Amino acid sequence: MRKVSVVGGGGNVGASAGLYLAERGICDVVMVDIAEGVPQGKALDLAEARSVRGYDSSIIGTNDYSDITDSDVVVVTAGFPRKPGMSRTDLLLKNAEIVSSVAGNIKKYAPNAYVVVVSNPLDMMTYHMMKETGFDPKRVMGMAGVLDATRFRCFIADELGVAATDVQAMVLGGHGDSMVPLPRYATVSGVPITDLLDAETIDRLVKRTAVGGGEIVKLMGTSAFYAPAASAAQMAEAILLDNKRMLPAAAFCTGQYGIRDVYVGVPIILGANGVEKIVELPLSDAELDMLRTSAGEVAEGIKELP
Ligand code: LAC
Repeated sequence: MRKVSVVGGGGNVGASAGLYLAERGICDVVMVDIAEGVPQGKALDLAEARSVRGYDSSIIGTNDYSDITDSDVVVVTAGFPRKPGMSRTDLLLKNAEIVSSVAGNIKKYAPNAYVVVVSNPLDMMTYHMMKETGFDPKRVMGMAGVLDATRFRCFIADELGVAATDVQAMVLGGHGDSMVPLPRYATVSGVPITDLLDAETIDRLVKRTAVGGGEIVKLMGTSAFYAPAASAAQMAEAILLDNKRMLPAAAFCTGQYGIRDVYVGVPIILGANGVEKIVELPLSDAELDMLRTSAGEVAEGIKELP
């Protein structure tokens, strides 16, 4: 069996990612967390559900990083959520410290792993993970575009009363206020949504997508976890199954879209070799401007990293 480890596996996003991955039956799952007893308890709970849900993956919870040994993929969800009164820079520095320590353990125990970063601020933490592991950037990527796109897909589907699975969408840029949903590349079974919805409605859905994470925090007082976890699990699966998914994800740009030396959300081909390609879509001047502005904000954040 292939092996996926989830760092932060005691938390909401990590435990849900463990659940989604285990249910696919394509890998064993290790949930590692610093909270004593929590990953063990959640993993046991998930393992006990196996016979009812019908899968045989092994699921273990641990506080010991040596259990991630030889993982094929490591999903990193560890990090502090932003608390009231905390600036973006405060969060950046606190989570960079966590990412540094996780990176050291991945290097030590799973030196051949592909790494999917979920910790926020997403694009900066993914960059930091790549630097701290010293891994080829193709092996280190950030999960955000899949989440932002699935939110956009959900809102389009609900607006039109169609199946969410028939809706496709591409959302580029950093995971934050400056993300760049691309309505003209969004379709319902191949039909552009620009032929199905008026400009005002599309604008409303685009705006809702950009603040989609905040909408959930407002409702329940904490960050979303089902959709983020499902999105991270889909990325891990694309690597394990080598199914060459074309997905938006934070990838290290080396000149694509005129962007260099930062991680930002772009369309990638994701397979057994990680980020196998960054796809360069034809963008309008306005779209390109938005993407570069977003990348510029990530670059500013990167400068603050230790
Ligand atoms: C969100 C957080 C998980 O967008 O980044 O909900």
